Amino acid sequence: MVTVIDGKALAQKIQSQLAEKVQKLKSEHGIVPGLVVILVGDNPASQVYVRNKERSALAAGFKSETVRLSESICQEELITIIQQYNLDQSIHGILVQLPLPSHINDKKIILAIDPKKDVDGFHPMNTGHLWSGRPLMVPCTPAGIMEMFSEYGIDLEGKHAVIIGRSNIVGKPMAQLLLDKNATVTLTHSRTRHLPQVTSQADILIVAIGQGHFVTADFVKEGAVVIDVGMNRDDNGKLIGDVEYEQVAEKASYLTPVPGGVGPMTITMLLEQTYQAALRSASQ
Ligand code: GUN
Repeated sequence: MVTVIDGKALAQKIQSQLAEKVQKLKSEHGIVPGLVVILVGDNPASQVYVRNKERSALAAGFKSETVRLSESICQEELITIIQQYNLDQSIHGILVQLPLPSHINDKKIILAIDPKKDVDGFHPMNTGHLWSGRPLMVPCTPAGIMEMFSEYGIDLEGKHAVIIGRSNIVGKPMAQLLLDKNATVTLTHSRTRHLPQVTSQADILIVAIGQGHFVTADFVKEGAVVIDVGMNRDDNGKLIGDVEYEQVAEKASYLTPVPGGVGPMTITMLLEQTYQAALRSASQ
């Protein structure tokens, strides 16, 4: 029987613990963790994420600001806004929602964020810390998945973990976090040959490819742990994952649902890292 990994329940548990820690930081140090989310344009998926982030941040007692900017803003103007938040002492975390419009170079934008406030963990300084085995700010989706493994007692030592998708947001940082826990990691992508043969060797399969119901039962070994990072819409507008849930549930030992799996954990880790940044600012 498959165990469904309940990301929503775990996220609620961590967020309520976080709300208590935030109260303590307020009463002992007079610091309220502050998060600013910058959204450029009106991508509908990004609008939903940003609204959810704001709601969760406020519920946990954070100061939350959302900056909504026109699609036509130029790169220099956006950098100037980021620099203002770099200097703003009431803000401990800065997140620029991706994707950005094509006339803006996202690498330059990420470089403009103070690495101490880079709660997404996308700045090359934080990537370097992660790959040298001293993670500080870690991309939130892989960090949330590691919390799930820990909560459900899923041991990674010596296991073969296969990741589908090599993005900077999920696949690459996920590989490093799994290596840190002594898993053997295979990072696959759109050019990988014989993909189902590779993935069916996985003890742990992490799917972040962005194609609805891409992973069917023939990709999965009996008893594997399957983590679905996908957020896709089907023809009826329904939210679906990258994994064909019903089929894969017949074979997997653990499986994350969509919605209610990885998604809520991503927001939780964003808040946790903002809190950690605020805590560090208290001891400076
Ligand atoms: N777009 C999709 N996922 C993310 C994320 O984790 N952070 C940011 N900034 N943008 C995203």
